[in-house]
Amino acid sequence: MPLPSDPATVEVGAQLPPHFQNETPILARFSSSTGLPDLPDNNPNGNPRGLAIRFVLAESPRRLHTDIITHSTPFFPAKDGPDALAFFKALADGSISDHLATYPSAKEFVEAPKPFPVSFARETFYGVNAFKLIAADGTVTFIRYRFVPRRGAAHVDGDQVEGLAAGYLYEQIQEVLPLGPTFDLVAQIAEEGDVTDNCTVQWPESRKVVTLGTISLDRVREDNDAEQKRVIFDPVPRVQGVESSDDPLIDVRAALYLISGRERRAA
Ligand code: HEM
Repeated sequence: MPLPSDPATVEVGAQLPPHFQNETPILARFSSSTGLPDLPDNNPNGNPRGLAIRFVLAESPRRLHTDIITHSTPFFPAKDGPDALAFFKALADGSISDHLATYPSAKEFVEAPKPFPVSFARETFYGVNAFKLIAADGTVTFIRYRFVPRRGAAHVDGDQVEGLAAGYLYEQIQEVLPLGPTFDLVAQIAEEGDVTDNCTVQWPESRKVVTLGTISLDRVREDNDAEQKRVIFDPVPRVQGVESSDDPLIDVRAALYLISGRERRAA
């Protein structure tokens, strides 16, 4: 949900097994909901926040990368393209209360707490859609990604929100770099029978969670402004052994992000 508004693009390194190198260069973008470029960080509409990470696997002879795009709630209001369109239309034309009465998952998303993080580095980010990991012997495991802050998640108390500065998130993350290991990339593992084609259905928190790697945030890119305009994150995995699940939202997102990103490049 979060759209790239006034984001910080940072270069990071990570340690990941097996087809990744031990230290894979990464590009990360933090973002805020709405996509409005001038939205102040202390505006509640900016929650949930986003974290998109690109694993840069090769630069030549051609660019090869795979991305993970997450936001700071495990909820999403719609299970597929038509439901998502109905939700966004209802938001735009003021009929959202009628929509929420008909779509329990949209109500759940809207009512889920979306507190302000004390910083981007103290937020948990959820991949929401399910993906498929395929082992060398063909074994399939369905997972949902999360970025878990190594210093723990921390949110601003309700009575402290008024004191938040307009630039408290993006300015702070740039000031505190390099941060070193900041997030664990983890996979929540589905069990037999867990729903994999509908991201509005949560898996129980009792599901096994496996750490895949560590994300280190190093520095803001020198070409930050140009890169912000250029980069288009891709919800579809582009590496052997990782595939989309049968969740229909993944392809819808991929198509839309391309349109949106190309318009941004052309603007
Ligand atoms: C059909 C459902 C969805 C629609 C219509 C939609 C729409 C969009 C659009 C148009 C963008 C801007 C892309 C760009 O300009 O590069 C975007 C970015 C984003 N979306 Fe979604 N989205 C959907 C589902 C989701 C879900 C399920 C998540 C949960 C993780 C999510 C998280 C994000 C994040 C974090 C970004 C910013 C990524 C970046 O830094 O480029 N979206 N979305």
